[in-house]
Amino acid sequence: MFETLTEQPADALLALIGLFRDDPRQGKLDLGVGVYRDDTGATPIMKAVKAAEGVLLETRTTKSYLGPEGDLVFVDLLKPIVFGADPGERVVGVQTPGGTGALRLGAELLAAARPGARVLVGTPTWPNHAPIIRATGLELALHPFFDVATQRLDFAALTVAVGAAGPGDVVLLHGCCHNPAGADLDDAEWDELAELLAARGVTPFVDLAYQGLGRGLEADARGTRRLVERLPEVLIAYSCDKNFGLYRERVGALYALAADAAAAETVKSNMAALARVNWSMPPDHGAAIVRTVLEDGELTALWRAELLEMGDRVRAVRAAIAAAEPRLAVLARQQGMFSTLPLTPEQIRRLRTDHAVYMAGSGRINLAGLRVGDVPAFVEALAAVGFPG
Ligand code: LMR
Repeated sequence: MFETLTEQPADALLALIGLFRDDPRQGKLDLGVGVYRDDTGATPIMKAVKAAEGVLLETRTTKSYLGPEGDLVFVDLLKPIVFGADPGERVVGVQTPGGTGALRLGAELLAAARPGARVLVGTPTWPNHAPIIRATGLELALHPFFDVATQRLDFAALTVAVGAAGPGDVVLLHGCCHNPAGADLDDAEWDELAELLAARGVTPFVDLAYQGLGRGLEADARGTRRLVERLPEVLIAYSCDKNFGLYRERVGALYALAADAAAAETVKSNMAALARVNWSMPPDHGAAIVRTVLEDGELTALWRAELLEMGDRVRAVRAAIAAAEPRLAVLARQQGMFSTLPLTPEQIRRLRTDHAVYMAGSGRINLAGLRVGDVPAFVEALAAVGFPG
């Protein structure tokens, strides 16, 4: 059976975790995989999460099955955070294993609705997007989104791609904190894009994985909310893995806005059927934590404050880099944990081997991997490999 298989390369980004762990050098810097780190370099369990886990330990009486939709109280409690005002009966959702599960389920839903539908994706993008889209038989159509050399977002290229698309086509959008560019649309661009999508009949599929880690919880949802206000149909893959620090618990949700309440119920039944043949039902613990936090006013306030602090820390690192190397001032205007530097593969290799600075092979850096105190060493390491030129 298996002789037809060929060896698959390990995921390059995840492989960095092991390489970094095994590096004995003092002062090594991990700017690889996208996890938040605090000012001691740790990825702590948030206090609100710890408190919620305590509540669950005391109060849970069963671990019996829920169902393919997962925890629907969690799905409902998250709605005001994602949508602001009550989105009404046209919005339905199910719980998923992380944002990746939501993306996969969303792609399968699109493939069930329109086999082989075209999905427009701006480059560069998160390396898992294209394989997920292709794995579900959808057609991937790439267009430029961000120019790494000039650090400019190419809104014109996005509008050209959407302008040439039509009903039955989909565009994948980063809701905030673009991974890997850190470059987000501004409010006027979201407005213009919403009008264009409406005029062309193109369906947006929003990947919203970092809400609260850019400009703040409300501002980071503004683009998504604009699309929901303006369009008949929207799909949203949501992740709580970053903004609740629940990474390995895999907590996400897939939401859909449909044309009316009846269509929304049909969409939800399809989400549930697809979930059933994938994972039967999603893991519960992480979603139960988020639900417990959001059911309690004090825990919610604590979580919001902790998230604000996380965002502030990343912004402080961005500002420190801009101050230490004015030619990198653009980093202070970008959002979220990631930026992508126009480094050559050789410079990226030398940063790792000669300076113990670990980053993705694309030049993507996770700013949360730096403490403000690490910034001088980081900028010096960049200079030592000749960057910026
Ligand atoms: C990242 O981009 O580093 C994270 O989303 C982790 C992952 O799964 O790739």
